[in-house]
Amino acid sequence: MNRDKTIKIVRDAYGKIAKGQKGCGCGTCCIPDAKEYAKSIGYSEEELKVIPDDANLALSCGNPTALARLKKGETVLDLGAGAGFDCFLAASKVGSKGKVIGVDMTPEMIEKARENAKRNVVKNVEFRLGEIENLPAADNSVDVVISNCVINLSADKKRVFQEIYRVLKPGGRISISDIALLKKLPKKIRENMLAYVGCISGAILVDEYKKIVEASGLKNVKIAVKGLSLYTDSYTEDPGEGKILGGLKKGESIQDYVVSVCAEGNK
Ligand SMILES: C[S@@+](CC[C@H](N)C(=O)[O-])C[C@H]1O[C@@H](n2cnc3c(N)ncnc32)[C@H](O)[C@@H]1O
Repeated sequence: MNRDKTIKIVRDAYGKIAKGQKGCGCGTCCIPDAKEYAKSIGYSEEELKVIPDDANLALSCGNPTALARLKKGETVLDLGAGAGFDCFLAASKVGSKGKVIGVDMTPEMIEKARENAKRNVVKNVEFRLGEIENLPAADNSVDVVISNCVINLSADKKRVFQEIYRVLKPGGRISISDIALLKKLPKKIRENMLAYVGCISGAILVDEYKKIVEASGLKNVKIAVKGLSLYTDSYTEDPGEGKILGGLKKGESIQDYVVSVCAEGNK
């Protein structure tokens, strides 16, 4: 797939989602209750209290901050921060002496995240417009890299992990929630851009994921695989021509192919 074209499609789709336009068909922006959804993927009531409602767009697939064991004073970088969902949680954990930087390539998301920070007077977060393949952050400057349901969308995952390695301080660590595959997707789904935007078609096999993380130089890499609560019932049926799962065989569900993973490791 052409890289520039893919980036444009992903950016346009998430720009619309940031502006509250639902029903794009990607399957991730139409979840009716974002709070309940967040609980289903591992966020506690207490955690959700510190996250502004407007930052929760139900676009996540795990709780990377929970596993990151953040400490006061740490610098955290969130890749593909969206409206700031995990950034606000991380900001409450690192405290006023710490700092959280959210990076996203979609201007509308950055705008929404900045508004959320301003409205809720959160001073230790900063949102930077940029691509995760070319992180707008200095070498050896970050204690922890987090990310939630984003790297599957990158056309150059190898480069993303090289960039993560570059910006991490020696001893720095990653805690990344993402989508990966148990087996190769049917061709029709692989080629469907709605399924790409919906965090399905860009995903790679779990083993391949681990190899890419290790090849970046990160050590002690662990990839934990979890069942997927991301997708609603509409994903278990073939919704027809042009929709995401038009390529599943009868009796199959997307959970036969797609899982949520959490990647950990350190520099
Ligand atoms: C599924 S959403 C997840 C947002 C956020 N992490 C959350 O959990 O709410 C994916 C986000 O990643 C951003 N994104 C996708 N590909 C990107 C890239 N190559 N560089 C930077 N941001 C990217 C999109 O703009 C979008 O905001």
